[in-house]
Amino acid sequence: MKKVYIETYGCQMNFADSEIVASLLKKEGYDVTTEIGEADYVLINTCAIRDNAEQRIRKRLRELRALQQRNTGLRIGILGCMAERLQSQLMVEEENVSFVVGPDAYRQLPSILARVREQGVKAAETELSTTETYADIEPVRLGSNGISAYISIMRGCQNYCAYCVVPYTRGRERSRDPETIVAEARDLYAHGYKEVTLLGQNVNSYRWRTDDGEVGFAELMARVAEISPRLRVRFATSHPKDLSDGLLEVMAKYDNICKCIHLPVQSGSDRILKLMNRHYDSAWYLDRIAAIRRYMPDCSITTDVIAGFCTETEEEHQMTLDMFRKVRYDYAYMFKFSMRPNTYAEKHLQDDVPEAEKTRRLEEIIALQGQIALENNRKEIGRVYEVLVEGESHRSKERLFGRNSQNKVIVFDRHEVQPGQYVKVKVVDCTAATLLGELCAQ
Ligand code: SAH
Ligand code: SF4
Ligand code: F3S
Repeated sequence: MKKVYIETYGCQMNFADSEIVASLLKKEGYDVTTEIGEADYVLINTCAIRDNAEQRIRKRLRELRALQQRNTGLRIGILGCMAERLQSQLMVEEENVSFVVGPDAYRQLPSILARVREQGVKAAETELSTTETYADIEPVRLGSNGISAYISIMRGCQNYCAYCVVPYTRGRERSRDPETIVAEARDLYAHGYKEVTLLGQNVNSYRWRTDDGEVGFAELMARVAEISPRLRVRFATSHPKDLSDGLLEVMAKYDNICKCIHLPVQSGSDRILKLMNRHYDSAWYLDRIAAIRRYMPDCSITTDVIAGFCTETEEEHQMTLDMFRKVRYDYAYMFKFSMRPNTYAEKHLQDDVPEAEKTRRLEEIIALQGQIALENNRKEIGRVYEVLVEGESHRSKERLFGRNSQNKVIVFDRHEVQPGQYVKVKVVDCTAATLLGELCAQ
């Protein structure tokens, strides 16, 4: 039996895809190993979102040369977004790569692996599809805690934000049959899972047409939430332009739909948002924040932001800081703009904010957000939350950690509690990143 080792970088969708890849290969008689030293194939599922994501993969490929020298039968393949972006050119640039397979071509992996080994050839399969959703593939849960799992509900993106490679690496947007999604969630729950996260680049445009109507994202969420009140439901990511009151209503209605919304803002400046092709302005965004707070006063809100996009002025950067002060995010993923080949920005705009200036702006955002997160967390002290326990704290075996509905991590003394349980925990202290709690009498 040939052994395959899978290494995953990038977003949650890539992690979900690796589980599909594992399933497709297992079905064809491959063994998925967690020991890279015994692998016949190393598959690297890659991200292309920023230049540094790609540099990391190239560095990893250099490291793997030593392993290839010891094991001359070892074949390395690149999957995911970098594979799609660079296609067979990647095998020219990186000599130790034997095959390149894009996100919509994973069904061909078993035959590609066999061909590469038996015929000693290189192979590239990077055709994108308008229909592939891997709906019938039952993912093999890799590195899972047996408590929470991802479910991919749609693929692709066609929003074409000016800075973004995803529409080019993932292809057209397409939704997956809701029956298969609900069945997958139900099956996970039956196997002891307590939390599912529904994944898509823009989940609000989830849409499945049937003969007698259509299923939208709000209805899909409701159907998954109905499986059991003990199954938590999360989702990522919503695009602010499409965040509907209908979804907020459904979220508010079900206690087991987690009260946490990731709503990437990208910038606080209307001119920059327009240049980014985001299809909303700061007033619209703040209206959506107000709507979230109206429906769910206890909902946490998180975001993504880009510092130093093309032509961004100091004043526009200040508008981003203002946006952060107004919304008071619970968490933010903060990035320096990275110019990506073939995007609208690369074709039509100038990457004219100097690197040092981007760094300074990013650091300012990070410092502000750190302060806000700490202040938000301090307000949690004294509150009691239901926590889904995920595992041992990294620092001490005597402590466990879990999350509340708002997706905040809470650490507490373990007592008799086991991972996978729901427990009530009172917040007694905090840092900017973590809440510290005490177990309540259950
Ligand atoms: N589909 C999601 C985001 C996917 S990418 C959405 O639209 O919200 C995750 C984040 O990476 C983006 O929200 C953006 O903040 C960041 N990002 C994307 N392209 C980037 C680039 N070229 N440079 C810097 N950050 C980028
Ligand atoms: Fe990229 Fe925009 Fe699509 Fe998100 S919505 S994946 S940022 S193009
Ligand atoms: Fe990266 Fe592709 Fe996800 S570019 S962020 S792995 S969709």
